[in-house]
Amino acid sequence: MTAQIIDGAKIAADIRNRVKQEAADLKAQRGIVPGLATVLVGDNPASHAYVRSKRKACAELGLASFGHELAKETTQAEVIALVRLLSGDPQVHGILVQLPLPAHISEEAVLSEVALEKDVDGFNPINIGKLGMKNRMPSFAPCTPSGVIELLDRCGAKIEGAHAVVLGRSNIVGLPVSLLLLGRNATVTVCHSRTQDIAAVTRQADILVAAIGKTRFVTAGMVKPGAVVIDVGINEVPDATKRSGKRLVGDVDFDGVKEVAGAITPVPGGVGPMTIAMLMQNTLTAAKSRAVGSKE
Ligand code: GUN
Repeated sequence: MTAQIIDGAKIAADIRNRVKQEAADLKAQRGIVPGLATVLVGDNPASHAYVRSKRKACAELGLASFGHELAKETTQAEVIALVRLLSGDPQVHGILVQLPLPAHISEEAVLSEVALEKDVDGFNPINIGKLGMKNRMPSFAPCTPSGVIELLDRCGAKIEGAHAVVLGRSNIVGLPVSLLLLGRNATVTVCHSRTQDIAAVTRQADILVAAIGKTRFVTAGMVKPGAVVIDVGINEVPDATKRSGKRLVGDVDFDGVKEVAGAITPVPGGVGPMTIAMLMQNTLTAAKSRAVGSKE
């Protein structure tokens, strides 16, 4: 059996098209242009590339973006002052603080200052706390984990009652995706660097989410036949056939695992495009809730 390939690029494009249309309607009907403020501290090249992509998506979908690039020496107090300003700015509906922040700045202190209703990245500790609690709703859930759930829903996976195994417990992906799966009534096991006999655990998974940042870690022998496998990994490997001399591969050995799994996401073109699509959707939602709450 060869797995269904889950086309994240196509699903992300569908979401983006809907956001574009709804943003145009919101502007025509209410004169409101959804606005995303991005805060980037330091000169991490990957972070700069991510923020560029997020702002480019805003431009393509008719959303406003307000970029704030701060030198790596910026103090924590200065970053907090900016986030407070943005939290009170009526043109800004969503705030994204690109992570990681430089080591001298506390992520928790900064993320706590993002207004809850503008926390389109879902990283304010209050929103993360609500995500993990029964009968509490965060304003927003983090984008990559939400993208994983969207892919599962769209490929027809049954989450409720399934055994979902998550590889990795990072604040950005592993932990929040585990909480989202739990909230959807999956039985969730989280594996990490100290887990013994990971393969024995992954072989029990109906849904396997790999987010550990290890090239082709998940091999065919670790996957239960028919399982749905979601690969969040983005790892660079050398490739002499490419002009750049490298290419991206996931945490899953795609060629081997696709022969065993029921459905699988490729890298690139799986989870990757979903992160920005969910961010755009969250920013639109934030603008719409403001429109409902205001008397304009
Ligand atoms: N760094 C890596 N991924 C993310 C993300 O989804 N959001 C933010 N803010 N920073 C990141």
